[in-house]
Amino acid sequence: MGISRSSLLAIFGCLCFCSSVLAARELNDDLFMVARHEDWMAKYGRVYKDAAEKAQRFEIFKTNAQFIESFNARGRKFWLSINQFADISNDEFRATKTNKGFIPNKMKVATRFRYENMSLDALPTTVDWRTKGAVTPVKDQGQCGCCWAFSAVAATEGIVKISTGNLISLSEQELVDCDVHGEDQGCEGGLMDDAFKFIIKNGGLTKESSYPYSAADGKCKSGSSSAATIKSYEDVPTNDEGALMKAVASQPVSVAVDGGDMTFQFYSGGVMTGTCGTDLDHGIAAIGYGTTSDGTKYWLLKNSWGTTWGENGFLRMEKDISDKKGMCGLAMEPSYPTA
Ligand SMILES: *[C@@H]1O[C@H](CO)[C@@H](O)[C@H](O)[C@H]1NC(C)=O
Repeated sequence: MGISRSSLLAIFGCLCFCSSVLAARELNDDLFMVARHEDWMAKYGRVYKDAAEKAQRFEIFKTNAQFIESFNARGRKFWLSINQFADISNDEFRATKTNKGFIPNKMKVATRFRYENMSLDALPTTVDWRTKGAVTPVKDQGQCGCCWAFSAVAATEGIVKISTGNLISLSEQELVDCDVHGEDQGCEGGLMDDAFKFIIKNGGLTKESSYPYSAADGKCKSGSSSAATIKSYEDVPTNDEGALMKAVASQPVSVAVDGGDMTFQFYSGGVMTGTCGTDLDHGIAAIGYGTTSDGTKYWLLKNSWGTTWGENGFLRMEKDISDKKGMCGLAMEPSYPTA
């Protein structure tokens, strides 16, 4: 016997019913997404020039929100969330000055490494320079590719606190405006080592409050009085997380990373693990390390994208991975100023 006409009808009726429920849910999801986009625009003060731009940005927002949700559903050691970068595609994000600002050093000459003879076994298991008062609040570089200045300033603020006892928020803008006679090019990018060279030659840096950040290239205001200075700088041996651990146990360190992946764009918390690029394009600062309760070793890093990104502006990335370059290349070009 075949399937009776009435049961076929029942199946058909059911399919019809289900697909209309699905269509209704999709519509609901879209309305929900429109509302999320509106809320997000209000939260971040985003204004579009016309309906066409809004529609285009909505599609990107939706794609990003769906990526974030499906990523988080996989239950990894870190998670993502909608943040200030939610209406730009990953290609746009890679091209933004916010993300691109570090110019890798192609002609690096090895310097002395003063921490080389420290014993790894003697290092503390956890370091967090925030608890020692050596880290200023998270700053926001905005749409200016001067991550190199924020990274160099964070490391400088750290060594100044350690050597003098004073935590002084220093001026990135002075570097952006005045460190222009070498490789560094303000909002177009630069290198932390060159920033250290400028600080030494300039006789120090002035306070953040005396030379505030404007997120744009400006004319150098000379005559700013120096609030803190450094003697020299040194590079951490390349691709050696053990050497980096010795340095970070001793002071905050400037590191370069590949910050272009979508997981970096939307990082929200946890320890970043898995695959990541190593095309260095972003400068940040390593301010500690530790191990989570589930045994995952991590680096603690300070970013310069405000407090709406990451763990209130900070980031944790897996430490001692099999790739010698480190997560996102963090062990490739670390360096630090000396007092
Ligand atoms: C480390 O120890 C070696 C051997 O004693 C010595 O030659 C070198 O100068 C030391 N390095 C530093 C940075 O003190």
